[in-house]
Amino acid sequence: MRIIIVKDYDEMSSKAARIISSQVTLNPKSVLGLATGSTPLGTYKELIDLYNKKEIDFGSVKTFNLDEYYGIEKQNEQSYHYFMMNNLFKYINVPLENVNIPNGNAKNIEEECLRYESEIEKEGGVDIQILGIGANGHIGFNEPNVNFETRTHLVTLDERTIEANSRFFKDKESVPKKAISMGIKTIMDSKKILLIASGEGKAEAVEKTIKGKVDPKVPASILQLHKDVTFIIDKAAASKL
Ligand code: GLP
Repeated sequence: MRIIIVKDYDEMSSKAARIISSQVTLNPKSVLGLATGSTPLGTYKELIDLYNKKEIDFGSVKTFNLDEYYGIEKQNEQSYHYFMMNNLFKYINVPLENVNIPNGNAKNIEEECLRYESEIEKEGGVDIQILGIGANGHIGFNEPNVNFETRTHLVTLDERTIEANSRFFKDKESVPKKAISMGIKTIMDSKKILLIASGEGKAEAVEKTIKGKVDPKVPASILQLHKDVTFIIDKAAASKL
Protein backbone atom coordinates (compact mmCIF):
# COMPACT_ATOMS: atom_id res chain seq x y z
CA MET A 1 0.00 0.00 0.00
CA ARG A 2 1.46 3.34 -1.08
CA ILE A 3 0.15 6.43 0.68
CA ILE A 4 0.85 9.84 -0.81
CA ILE A 5 -0.30 12.80 1.24
CA VAL A 6 -0.63 16.02 -0.71
CA LYS A 7 -1.44 19.62 0.14
CA ASP A 8 -4.89 19.94 -1.35
CA TYR A 9 -7.47 18.88 -3.94
CA ASP A 10 -5.54 20.42 -6.84
CA GLU A 11 -2.34 18.60 -6.00
CA MET A 12 -4.30 15.35 -5.56
CA SER A 13 -5.88 15.86 -8.97
CA SER A 14 -2.66 16.61 -10.83
CA LYS A 15 -0.79 13.69 -9.22
CA ALA A 16 -3.63 11.29 -10.07
CA ALA A 17 -3.78 12.55 -13.65
CA ARG A 18 0.01 12.11 -14.01
CA ILE A 19 -0.26 8.49 -12.84
CA ILE A 20 -3.08 7.74 -15.29
CA SER A 21 -1.24 9.50 -18.08
CA SER A 22 1.93 7.46 -17.40
CA GLN A 23 -0.16 4.30 -17.53
CA VAL A 24 -1.53 5.26 -20.95
CA THR A 25 1.92 6.25 -22.21
CA LEU A 26 3.38 2.90 -21.15
CA ASN A 27 0.43 1.00 -22.61
CA PRO A 28 -1.70 2.98 -25.10
CA LYS A 29 -4.23 0.12 -25.05
CA SER A 30 -4.76 0.40 -21.30
CA VAL A 31 -8.06 -0.53 -19.74
CA LEU A 32 -9.01 2.27 -17.37
CA GLY A 33 -11.50 1.81 -14.55
CA LEU A 34 -13.24 5.12 -13.96
CA ALA A 35 -15.24 6.64 -11.12
CA THR A 36 -17.78 9.41 -10.70
CA GLY A 37 -18.44 11.87 -7.88
CA SER A 38 -16.87 15.22 -7.08
CA THR A 39 -13.47 13.76 -6.20
CA PRO A 40 -12.29 12.71 -9.70
CA LEU A 41 -13.57 15.87 -11.41
CA GLY A 42 -10.25 17.69 -10.98
CA THR A 43 -8.36 14.63 -12.21
CA TYR A 44 -10.53 14.53 -15.34
CA LYS A 45 -9.90 18.26 -15.94
CA GLU A 46 -6.16 17.63 -15.71
CA LEU A 47 -6.44 14.69 -18.12
CA ILE A 48 -8.33 16.89 -20.60
CA ASP A 49 -5.58 19.45 -20.23
CA LEU A 50 -2.86 16.87 -20.90
CA TYR A 51 -4.85 15.66 -23.91
CA ASN A 52 -5.12 19.21 -25.28
CA LYS A 53 -1.36 19.59 -24.87
CA LYS A 54 -0.97 16.35 -26.85
CA GLU A 55 0.71 14.67 -23.89
CA ILE A 56 -1.80 11.84 -23.79
CA ASP A 57 -3.66 9.92 -26.49
CA PHE A 58 -6.83 8.05 -25.54
CA GLY A 59 -7.35 6.67 -29.07
CA SER A 60 -6.79 3.02 -28.12
CA VAL A 61 -7.85 3.15 -24.48
CA LYS A 62 -10.84 1.18 -23.15
CA THR A 63 -12.82 2.34 -20.15
CA PHE A 64 -15.11 0.69 -17.61
CA ASN A 65 -17.03 2.74 -15.10
CA LEU A 66 -17.64 1.49 -11.60
CA ASP A 67 -21.36 2.03 -11.39
CA GLU A 68 -24.63 3.52 -12.59
CA TYR A 69 -27.94 4.29 -10.92
CA TYR A 70 -30.72 1.78 -11.40
CA GLY A 71 -33.76 2.76 -13.44
CA ILE A 72 -32.30 5.94 -14.87
CA GLU A 73 -32.07 6.83 -18.58
CA LYS A 74 -28.60 7.45 -20.06
CA GLN A 75 -29.77 10.91 -21.13
CA ASN A 76 -30.87 11.85 -17.61
CA GLU A 77 -28.58 14.58 -16.29
CA GLN A 78 -28.15 12.69 -13.04
CA SER A 79 -27.00 9.50 -14.72
CA TYR A 80 -23.35 8.52 -14.57
CA HIS A 81 -23.48 8.14 -18.37
CA TYR A 82 -24.27 11.85 -18.59
CA PHE A 83 -21.63 12.69 -15.97
CA MET A 84 -18.86 10.85 -17.81
CA MET A 85 -19.83 12.21 -21.19
CA ASN A 86 -19.93 15.80 -19.98
CA ASN A 87 -16.94 15.74 -17.65
CA LEU A 88 -14.52 13.67 -19.67
CA PHE A 89 -15.46 11.72 -22.78
CA LYS A 90 -16.65 14.56 -24.97
CA TYR A 91 -13.37 16.42 -24.44
CA ILE A 92 -10.94 13.60 -25.28
CA ASN A 93 -10.45 11.18 -28.17
CA VAL A 94 -11.57 7.93 -26.55
CA PRO A 95 -13.76 6.18 -29.16
CA LEU A 96 -17.24 5.86 -27.68
CA GLU A 97 -17.36 2.18 -28.64
CA ASN A 98 -14.48 1.69 -26.18
CA VAL A 99 -16.49 3.18 -23.34
CA ASN A 100 -18.37 0.89 -20.94
CA ILE A 101 -20.80 1.91 -18.21
CA PRO A 102 -23.39 -0.44 -16.70
CA ASN A 103 -26.83 0.04 -18.20
CA GLY A 104 -28.99 0.95 -15.22
CA ASN A 105 -32.06 0.68 -17.40
CA ALA A 106 -31.48 -2.84 -18.71
CA LYS A 107 -34.60 -5.02 -18.81
CA ASN A 108 -32.78 -7.94 -17.28
CA ILE A 109 -30.42 -6.62 -14.60
CA GLU A 110 -28.87 -9.97 -13.79
CA GLU A 111 -27.96 -10.48 -17.43
CA GLU A 112 -26.59 -6.95 -17.64
CA CYS A 113 -24.32 -7.60 -14.63
CA LEU A 114 -22.99 -10.80 -16.21
CA ARG A 115 -22.51 -9.04 -19.55
CA TYR A 116 -20.54 -6.27 -17.86
CA GLU A 117 -18.27 -8.74 -16.10
CA SER A 118 -17.63 -10.66 -19.32
CA GLU A 119 -16.77 -7.43 -21.19
CA ILE A 120 -14.15 -6.63 -18.56
CA GLU A 121 -12.79 -10.16 -18.80
CA LYS A 122 -12.69 -9.98 -22.60
CA GLU A 123 -10.41 -6.95 -22.35
CA GLY A 124 -8.08 -8.83 -20.03
CA GLY A 125 -9.19 -6.98 -16.88
CA VAL A 126 -8.78 -3.43 -15.68
CA ASP A 127 -5.20 -2.12 -15.70
CA ILE A 128 -5.79 0.78 -13.33
CA GLN A 129 -8.95 1.43 -11.36
CA ILE A 130 -9.61 4.95 -10.06
CA LEU A 131 -11.64 5.05 -6.87
CA GLY A 132 -13.17 7.74 -4.74
CA ILE A 133 -14.45 6.84 -1.29
CA GLY A 134 -17.80 7.49 0.34
CA ALA A 135 -17.91 9.11 3.80
CA ASN A 136 -19.22 5.71 4.94
CA GLY A 137 -16.22 3.92 3.44
CA HIS A 138 -17.97 2.72 0.29
CA ILE A 139 -16.14 2.13 -2.99
CA GLY A 140 -18.17 2.16 -6.18
CA PHE A 141 -21.56 1.60 -4.61
CA ASN A 142 -20.39 -1.23 -2.36
CA GLU A 143 -22.00 -0.13 0.86
CA PRO A 144 -21.14 -1.02 4.49
CA ASN A 145 -21.77 -4.65 5.49
CA VAL A 146 -20.59 -5.58 2.04
CA ASN A 147 -20.00 -9.10 0.81
CA PHE A 148 -16.35 -9.08 -0.29
CA GLU A 149 -17.06 -11.90 -2.77
CA THR A 150 -19.44 -10.04 -5.09
CA ARG A 151 -18.95 -9.10 -8.71
CA THR A 152 -21.08 -6.59 -10.67
CA HIS A 153 -24.51 -6.62 -9.02
CA LEU A 154 -27.56 -4.61 -8.08
CA VAL A 155 -27.10 -2.80 -4.76
CA THR A 156 -29.44 -1.00 -2.41
CA LEU A 157 -27.99 2.36 -1.49
CA ASP A 158 -27.15 3.19 2.09
CA GLU A 159 -29.12 5.99 3.78
CA ARG A 160 -25.87 8.03 4.11
CA THR A 161 -25.14 7.66 0.40
CA ILE A 162 -28.64 8.79 -0.54
CA GLU A 163 -28.21 11.77 1.76
CA ALA A 164 -24.75 12.63 0.36
CA ASN A 165 -25.81 12.25 -3.28
CA SER A 166 -29.04 14.21 -2.83
CA ARG A 167 -26.97 17.34 -3.48
CA PHE A 168 -27.10 16.46 -7.17
CA PHE A 169 -30.87 15.90 -7.19
CA LYS A 170 -33.95 18.05 -6.71
CA ASP A 171 -34.48 16.49 -3.29
CA LYS A 172 -33.66 13.37 -1.30
CA GLU A 173 -36.74 11.55 -2.60
CA SER A 174 -35.50 11.85 -6.19
CA VAL A 175 -32.25 9.94 -5.51
CA PRO A 176 -32.50 6.39 -6.90
CA LYS A 177 -32.53 3.80 -4.13
CA LYS A 178 -30.58 1.25 -6.12
CA ALA A 179 -27.61 1.06 -8.44
CA ILE A 180 -25.56 -1.38 -10.47
CA SER A 181 -22.01 -1.52 -9.20
CA MET A 182 -18.86 -3.48 -9.87
CA GLY A 183 -18.46 -5.71 -6.84
CA ILE A 184 -15.51 -5.82 -4.47
CA LYS A 185 -14.20 -8.90 -6.27
CA THR A 186 -14.29 -7.03 -9.60
CA ILE A 187 -12.47 -4.06 -8.08
CA MET A 188 -9.88 -6.27 -6.36
CA ASP A 189 -9.13 -7.99 -9.68
CA SER A 190 -7.83 -4.70 -11.14
CA LYS A 191 -4.10 -4.82 -11.66
CA LYS A 192 -3.58 -1.43 -10.04
CA ILE A 193 -5.83 0.69 -7.86
CA LEU A 194 -5.61 4.43 -7.32
CA LEU A 195 -7.83 5.79 -4.56
CA ILE A 196 -8.18 9.54 -4.26
CA ALA A 197 -9.71 11.36 -1.30
CA SER A 198 -10.05 15.00 -0.38
CA GLY A 199 -11.54 16.99 2.47
CA GLU A 200 -12.27 16.50 6.14
CA GLY A 201 -15.52 14.71 5.39
CA LYS A 202 -13.48 11.72 4.22
CA ALA A 203 -10.99 11.70 7.13
CA GLU A 204 -12.79 9.09 9.21
CA ALA A 205 -13.38 6.76 6.26
CA VAL A 206 -9.74 7.12 5.20
CA GLU A 207 -8.51 6.39 8.73
CA LYS A 208 -10.66 3.26 9.06
CA THR A 209 -9.68 2.11 5.57
CA ILE A 210 -5.95 2.40 6.15
CA LYS A 211 -5.53 1.84 9.89
CA GLY A 212 -8.53 -0.26 10.82
CA LYS A 213 -8.96 -3.97 10.37
CA VAL A 214 -10.33 -5.41 7.14
CA ASP A 215 -14.02 -5.23 7.89
CA PRO A 216 -17.16 -5.48 5.72
CA LYS A 217 -18.47 -2.47 7.67
CA VAL A 218 -15.78 -0.43 5.89
CA PRO A 219 -15.82 -1.76 2.32
CA ALA A 220 -12.65 0.13 1.29
CA SER A 221 -10.66 -1.63 4.06
CA ILE A 222 -10.36 -4.66 1.75
CA LEU A 223 -7.89 -2.60 -0.29
CA GLN A 224 -5.29 -3.36 2.40
CA LEU A 225 -5.10 -6.79 0.76
CA HIS A 226 -4.53 -5.53 -2.79
CA LYS A 227 -0.96 -5.91 -4.02
CA ASP A 228 -0.73 -2.63 -5.94
CA VAL A 229 -2.80 0.11 -4.39
CA THR A 230 -1.93 3.79 -4.13
CA PHE A 231 -3.82 6.30 -2.03
CA ILE A 232 -3.52 9.98 -2.88
CA ILE A 233 -5.01 11.86 0.02
CA ASP A 234 -4.99 15.54 0.74
CA LYS A 235 -4.04 16.88 4.18
CA ALA A 236 -7.65 17.32 5.30
CA ALA A 237 -8.62 13.76 4.37
CA ALA A 238 -5.43 12.49 6.02
CA SER A 239 -6.01 14.47 9.23
CA LYS A 240 -6.95 11.39 11.28
CA LEU A 241 -4.08 9.18 10.15
C1 GLP B 1 -20.57 8.08 -5.12
C2 GLP B 1 -19.92 7.06 -6.07
C3 GLP B 1 -18.56 6.64 -5.61
C4 GLP B 1 -17.81 7.87 -5.11
C5 GLP B 1 -18.45 8.35 -3.84
C6 GLP B 1 -17.86 9.64 -3.29
O1 GLP B 1 -21.82 7.76 -4.69
N1 GLP B 1 -20.71 5.90 -6.36
O2 GLP B 1 -17.87 5.99 -6.67
O3 GLP B 1 -16.47 7.58 -4.86
O4 GLP B 1 -19.86 8.39 -3.94
O5 GLP B 1 -18.30 10.74 -4.00
P1 GLP B 1 -17.63 12.16 -3.93
O6 GLP B 1 -16.35 12.04 -4.68
O7 GLP B 1 -18.59 13.08 -4.61
O8 GLP B 1 -17.40 12.48 -2.50
